[in-house]
Amino acid sequence: MTLPARIEGYAIVSEDGMLADSHGVMPDALKFDADQKYFADGLDRCDAVIHGRHSHEMQPHSPRRYRITVTGAVASMARDPNNSKGILWNPRGASFGEAWSALGLSGGSLGVVGGTAVFGMFLDRYDAFHLTRAPGVRLPNGRPVFPDVPAFTPEQVMEKHGLTPAERETLDATHDLIVTVWRRKK
Ligand SMILES: NC(=O)c1ccc[n+]([C@@H]2O[C@H](COP(=O)([O-])OP(=O)(O)OC[C@H]3O[C@@H](n4cnc5c(N)ncnc54)[C@H](OP(=O)(O)O)[C@@H]3O)[C@@H](O)[C@H]2O)c1
Repeated sequence: MTLPARIEGYAIVSEDGMLADSHGVMPDALKFDADQKYFADGLDRCDAVIHGRHSHEMQPHSPRRYRITVTGAVASMARDPNNSKGILWNPRGASFGEAWSALGLSGGSLGVVGGTAVFGMFLDRYDAFHLTRAPGVRLPNGRPVFPDVPAFTPEQVMEKHGLTPAERETLDATHDLIVTVWRRKK
């Protein structure tokens, strides 16, 4: 069984730590060209992505990537009938290592792109989590970035799981849009 050599997560969240609104829709208020470019550049360095059935990065290079789609629609694992580079994976029926091995990659890097449950699954395994905050946006009763939000802030959740803030980059000064890269403490 193989595992990825690196695991990195990417999310943009509202001030209250939400990645989508109360209907499960990612609103335009969370969409910024500079963040989308940062996200696309990051995933271009990944060999594969993983996401729940309602998430997809929708980027020009998406077809190049191996893909694990998390779903309860299969008992354990199956080839994705719609994607020759894709696996459908149910964590109740197979381990993550089994799903990764089924992609046929040795080592390689994984980009985690959500949503809530999938981001939560890797909290103890991220090498880095790239968290962009959209100031001034609030999404009451929205879908949180991690299962323990809003009881805790996304930052508190990451700290609790051994991540610490490292680089900060202003992506868009007009909108005060900042990404912070959280890295695992040595
Ligand atoms: N702001 C951001 O950075 C960001 C990031 C990611 C997503 N989003 C947005 O968030 C919304 C979707 O997020 P979401 O959290 O509602 O959905 P999601 O994780 O993308 O999809 C949920 C579905 O994934 C499957 N799934 C997830 N965890 C599972 C588990 N442990 N076992 C089996 N199946 C599992 C289930 O599929 P089945 O129903 O097939 O069983 C479930 O219905 C979208 O609007 C998306 O655009 C935003």
